[in-house]
Amino acid sequence: MYEQLVLLSGRANPPLAAEIARYLGVTLGAVELSNFPDGEISVRLNQNVRGCDVFLIQPTGPSVNDTLMELLILIDTCKRASAARITAVIPYFGYARQDRKDMGRVPITAKLVANLITKAGADRVLTMDLHAAQIQGFFDCPVDHLYAAPILDEYFRKLNLPQDKLVVVSPDEGSIKRSLQHVEHIGGQFAIVDKRRTSAVDCRQENLIGGPIAGKVAIIFDDMITTGGSMAGAVKVVTAHGASKVYVGATHPVFCGPATGRLREVPIEEIVVTNSLLIRPEQSLPNLKIVSVAPLLGEAIRRIHRNESVSYLFD
Ligand code: R5P
Repeated sequence: MYEQLVLLSGRANPPLAAEIARYLGVTLGAVELSNFPDGEISVRLNQNVRGCDVFLIQPTGPSVNDTLMELLILIDTCKRASAARITAVIPYFGYARQDRKDMGRVPITAKLVANLITKAGADRVLTMDLHAAQIQGFFDCPVDHLYAAPILDEYFRKLNLPQDKLVVVSPDEGSIKRSLQHVEHIGGQFAIVDKRRTSAVDCRQENLIGGPIAGKVAIIFDDMITTGGSMAGAVKVVTAHGASKVYVGATHPVFCGPATGRLREVPIEEIVVTNSLLIRPEQSLPNLKIVSVAPLLGEAIRRIHRNESVSYLFD
């Protein structure tokens, strides 16, 4: 057992860290973060962490290189300050897309980043809705992988949408398993949008498999909204097939490039995302609803600190 729990936050999502601290009834640790004129990140701990059980909260979302580097430097700082154990709490794990060599002469960035985090000195990782669950295996240390689906499902259940008219839609082939789990928890029929990616920012979506969706209420679930192309395209497909209302649910609001513009242009009742990443005011949308993952992460931190089961949180 480790004596004292210390919660520290990088600059990626301080409001989430503050909410986790409130959940745990602790004060966020004193750390000074700034940049040297050339952009180098400067970190200074203003408290003792010797022998402590340190949890560093830092999603590695945009700007992914800066947030990742800051996480690595924070880990190094705590290690050199003699923390007893360091857990990297990464609610959104960036660089996850390249998780295999699907063509010649390309990197596996997810593995590279996992190596960097463990080499820097992290003893454990706590993360949520990895782009591909097998990325857990890239870390040579324990990884606790949480799911935000129950939180999104609870939100949609409270909307009391008509069960007989509900269709859960997977925006692509890769999200089928996740979408079927949502069907299990919130009910409804199931449909899949046929998506073919044409570039990193564009994709083509035309056909709808399953349904029927005419006159129904569609909820499209994805793990993340990045440039918004997949989601906006899926909304267009279900609308063209006659859906009367369309809701959207996603864990990670990466929201970069044309995302908010694309989402604004299509008819969506509500876009429900978590606070795994910070949404800047300019990225906000009138129909955006944010559900908090702070209690989920806070409870996981509490249990890890006390050496209690975390798998309880997956139910
Ligand atoms: C794809 O595999 C993912 O689940 C998301 O659909 C994708 O990353 C979203 O990207 P974008 O918003 O840029 O279409």
